[in-house]
Amino acid sequence: MTALLQIEDVTAGYTSDIDILRGVSVTVPPGSIRGLIGLNGAGKSTVMKTACGFLTPRRGRVRFDGEEITGIATHRLLRRGISLIPQESSLFPHLSVEDNLRLPLRAARRAGLSSDDALERTLERFPEIHGKLRADAGSLSGGQQKMVEFAKAHMLRPRLCLIDEPSIGLSPKIAGEVFGWIRQFADEGMAILLVDHNIRKVIELSDHTYVLTLGEITAEGPRSQFEGDMHEQVREWLGLNF
Ligand SMILES: Nc1ncnc2c1ncn2[C@@H]1O[C@H](COP(=O)(O)OP(=O)(O)OP(=O)(O)O)[C@@H](O)[C@H]1O
Ligand SMILES: [Mg+2]
Repeated sequence: MTALLQIEDVTAGYTSDIDILRGVSVTVPPGSIRGLIGLNGAGKSTVMKTACGFLTPRRGRVRFDGEEITGIATHRLLRRGISLIPQESSLFPHLSVEDNLRLPLRAARRAGLSSDDALERTLERFPEIHGKLRADAGSLSGGQQKMVEFAKAHMLRPRLCLIDEPSIGLSPKIAGEVFGWIRQFADEGMAILLVDHNIRKVIELSDHTYVLTLGEITAEGPRSQFEGDMHEQVREWLGLNF
């Protein structure tokens, strides 16, 4: 089966003298959830930025659905069906929730997607947003804002959703809901690349997980491989208890 996203041997950084990613290869097949775990500063968000065109690698390639997309701008990739739910908020706090939801559709101008139809479909998935459409996005709680972020991605009906640290700063209960949305997105056919500090949850949700250490993939495997000995190994690699 052709991979939907293929990051191949990518070396990338923010300045010409420092490589943050060194020869990273990550693959996401259609409709699957793949996990990426690693310590703070390992380069997880940098992998996400490379996949959605925010950062152009200096070596290696990125392919989407078999076509090379290395260096293609983010808004064009949005149009092709790649969405990012970033680690930091991407909402405009002084715009209404509804405007925040409709904005990416305008930016993406995806053929055949009407803003009204998309909103209706998205509100079916996230009915709690109905009563908040006119509120400023910035007036909502952290959990509600995260829901709007997910709804915003859902509006575009992406083929690939890059989800960076979705549970950060949320209570365990709300974080549990967030992981439920990710499962539902996958059930709707979206492929997902998931980064989160809740390593247990990433491994549980993903069919295959990559371990990133100082910009290099140091281990990877299917869920079953992260049980037993692998569990101990990952703890050791990451120096973490989980
Ligand atoms: N815009 C930037 N300009 C320069 N350096 C950056 C930039 N963004 C990140 N870095 C550096 O790149 C390295 C990797 O950062 P990145 O955000 O990808 O890590 P991460 O694994 O996502 O960490 P965290 O778990 O804290 O989110 C860090 O050393 C960071 O300081
Ligand atoms: Mg990060």
